[in-house]
Amino acid sequence: MPTAVIRGTGHYTPETVMTNADFERIVDTTSEWILERTGIRERRILNGSGDFGNSDMAVAAAKDALKEAGLKPADLDGIIVGTVTPDKLLPSTAAIVQRKLGAGRAMVMDVVAACAGFLYGMSVARAFIECGTHRCILVIGVEHLSTITNYKDRNTCILFGDGAGAAVFTPSQPGEDGRGVLSTYMSGDGRYEDLLHIAIGGSRAPLTRETVDDPGRYITMDGREVFKLAVREMADAAERVLKEAGVHSDEVDLLIPHQANERIIQALGRKMGFGSDRVYRNIERLGNTSSASVPIALDEARQAGLISEGSLVLSVAFGGGLVWGAALYRL
Ligand code: ACO
Repeated sequence: MPTAVIRGTGHYTPETVMTNADFERIVDTTSEWILERTGIRERRILNGSGDFGNSDMAVAAAKDALKEAGLKPADLDGIIVGTVTPDKLLPSTAAIVQRKLGAGRAMVMDVVAACAGFLYGMSVARAFIECGTHRCILVIGVEHLSTITNYKDRNTCILFGDGAGAAVFTPSQPGEDGRGVLSTYMSGDGRYEDLLHIAIGGSRAPLTRETVDDPGRYITMDGREVFKLAVREMADAAERVLKEAGVHSDEVDLLIPHQANERIIQALGRKMGFGSDRVYRNIERLGNTSSASVPIALDEARQAGLISEGSLVLSVAFGGGLVWGAALYRL
């Protein structure tokens, strides 16, 4: 059976930088508090004029990934987009990306799995490729989180940034044994719905004139609870994919975790026995970009030469749902 091999990756981050000092001017916080408690110094924000939005960031990342893979949009037979900030509620962002890329009649779907969106998308792409129904799938994680961030809530607004990351998957070829996605584990627990959610704007509580200024329009989060669960469940998910693949954690070249909080990344690394030299982080520069975080980090790590063909990579993510997942893959 073929495996799903990554042939190219790409990412896009907006030019506008929002520093911790910028937050000192809008909420009751300090640059030191933010850095110490989260590890974040700055994040990128897409100043939405409407002309360039979520799908455009996705397209920019996708074009890079396709170029590196030596593939054309017409080669794609699937596009999966992980996002909680779609351009529109209908159609999917994947459909919009397909049109903007000129990707013919590829299957298109969005995956709503918050920060785990890219890994969920990767596991779906893997399944389609392994069962032979699809041969070239683009998986994107993209977020325009600044549109759902409450810049009056110091508990959350300091965390989030915008951006996109993408990867193209095709089946392994003869002679490529050992490459591709080796194991995935996706899970969740809907009982924790209220720990991290946007209460208003869906069909249950549509946006009305009365709720237009309600904080419930934006992300609300019980950070302390999410923190505890994040470390526990990401470590468990990581152990499961290693076990399924029969791989010891020492064999992994690089751990690329979701970038939610430097302290979460450190706690996870300690729990898993990874020294900081084997853990990729960009949270200091980009903050938490939800589903875009893992694919941006993956592309950056490849561009920096930290990993290359043959490297064994472990990715883990955790987000609103609550959902979480892990994937073990060899480039
Ligand atoms: N500046 C100064 N003080 C602050 C700030 C701020 N920006 N934010 C919170 N505080 C205060 C709180 O009000 C609290 O004060 P109190 O003790 O008087 O009540 C105090 O700091 C400590 O608050 P905690 O919430 O305990 O702070 P903590 O150390 O846990 O850090 C944080 C908060 C950064 C949110 C952390 O809990 C975290 O990163 N949680 C996980 C986030 C995450 O992983 N989310 C999942 C993905 S997101 C997604 O899916 C879209």
